Amino acid sequence: MKLTEKYLYEIIKDHLINLYNEEISNSLFIQETNNSNFGDFQTNFAMINAKTLKKAPRKIAEEILENFPQSDLITKVEIAGPGFINIFISDDFVGEQLKKLGNEEIEFDLNTKGNVIIDYSSPNIAKPMHIGHLRSTVIGDAIKRIYRYLGYTVIGDNHLGDWGTQFGSLIVGYDRWLDKENYKQNPIDELERIYVKFTQESEKNVDLIEIAREEQRKLQSGDERNTKLWKEFIEVSLKDYEKIYKRMDIDFDTYYGESFYHNIMKDVVKDLIEKNIAFEDDGALVVSFDDDNLPNCIVRKSNGSFLYTTSDLACIKFRRENYDINRLIYVTDQRQQTHFKQVFTIADNLGWNEKKDHVYFGLMRFVDGVFSTRKGNVIKLKELLDKATQEAEKILLERNSNKENLKEKAEIIGVGAVKYADLSQNRTSDIIFDWEKMLSFNSNSSPYLQYTYARINSLIKKSDLNDIQEIYIFENDYEKNLAKNLLKFPNAVMRAGENYKPNLLTDYLYELAQTFNSFYNNVRVLNAEGKYLESKLALCKKTAYVLEKGLNLLGIKTLEEM
Ligand code: ARG
Repeated sequence: MKLTEKYLYEIIKDHLINLYNEEISNSLFIQETNNSNFGDFQTNFAMINAKTLKKAPRKIAEEILENFPQSDLITKVEIAGPGFINIFISDDFVGEQLKKLGNEEIEFDLNTKGNVIIDYSSPNIAKPMHIGHLRSTVIGDAIKRIYRYLGYTVIGDNHLGDWGTQFGSLIVGYDRWLDKENYKQNPIDELERIYVKFTQESEKNVDLIEIAREEQRKLQSGDERNTKLWKEFIEVSLKDYEKIYKRMDIDFDTYYGESFYHNIMKDVVKDLIEKNIAFEDDGALVVSFDDDNLPNCIVRKSNGSFLYTTSDLACIKFRRENYDINRLIYVTDQRQQTHFKQVFTIADNLGWNEKKDHVYFGLMRFVDGVFSTRKGNVIKLKELLDKATQEAEKILLERNSNKENLKEKAEIIGVGAVKYADLSQNRTSDIIFDWEKMLSFNSNSSPYLQYTYARINSLIKKSDLNDIQEIYIFENDYEKNLAKNLLKFPNAVMRAGENYKPNLLTDYLYELAQTFNSFYNNVRVLNAEGKYLESKLALCKKTAYVLEKGLNLLGIKTLEEM
């Protein structure tokens, strides 16, 4: 199916080319209205071309309307205010498009050639996942799903931090303080404990730092025992992460951690030297930038070791050689903005001109301290999900929900609420977590959308109509509004994707659910008969489809019953 806007552009543009010329017609811009008195769509074409055409805007609008082409799509065009043109869409067209939604591929007109590689979640090995990883994981996953829907071939890559200096410290901790029993039971907790222990002990005894550095050096030069330990730490960490990912319905296509790029880094450095991009400074290799706001960055230390920037450059080099890149997307918190500006600028200077976007996000806080951290202790992601599930279960019990599958339902609602609370806020601002709002059944939250979905399901079940024909007859504005709202779905997904803003999709879904609920509260669906009943039920079914699909693009599951 084509987006409604696309049909409109085609019709109106042809008309404008006939009236004026190609160049002028290119300035056609059509916008959805949010007040049906002004039609369904509106254009300010007459106003922005008044100067070029040397005519009053209203005069231009009259000219356009005079021989306006007939079509099944447009029922009425009229002039408003200083020269806006309001466009009204026909019910038949809305009905026909609605039939296609979900049954036909959508033409988005995007350049989807090649691979979109999205790098998200990417925790540092040997540390349990904490709430700091939530946003990257959830936002990255949503963008991945949205891009696939838009027709891109997407590779989700978990760029694990598996090559940092933490390994030297861990090896020292392992040799000195490992509690073998605990390591067997809760390996990642034990690794975290010895890591913290190392930090504390090395404050008292600085020699430990030198010892850890030596272990790290041995690891990097291939020492057998240290390599074995390193692999083991990665393995137990991944096992732990997998549990969380599974619970959150998150998966990846590749798990190339930083270590994967180790051997490529020296080639990057060679490129940088050959192209005169990096220079020696006190033994270190440094890159400086034209932009004064961007600090110099070291790509190789004087002791020969490489840095985070070097590994990200090696990663781009690898991807260029192994994929046909459409674009690279990196999802991390806002503190890495400088890092990615440096990486992208260096890559551009190397002639690696593929599109690269840093999708960054703000920090996360809790509104009431109910779930605040014990001093200095980060909240583990597992604890957060457990808490969300418990709260959801409480609410289900309060609402007298069917006790069957209570735990499973609570898990879907709880995890969904956490994801939605993250995705529905402006990505770049700090977000505040508020359990009450997150789990509310009547505000901008996933339980509200899931509940609306379940409500539609039970309505359809009650109708006893097994096979609903898609014939659409709109008997009132509630129905027509709902239908028009449903057609906005593809566009909402596209805008969310192109801007890397999942909140544009949540806003849309919230509005859709509200539109549905006002239809539901005002139209007695099951009192209708014959084709009127079928039309209303078809609208309900299509709403359920869009809600489910939309939530699914956010990584959130629906429930048939709540
Ligand atoms: N491991 C890093 C961290 O926890 C995030 C990695 C992001 N991706 C990248 N290609 N640098 O901060």
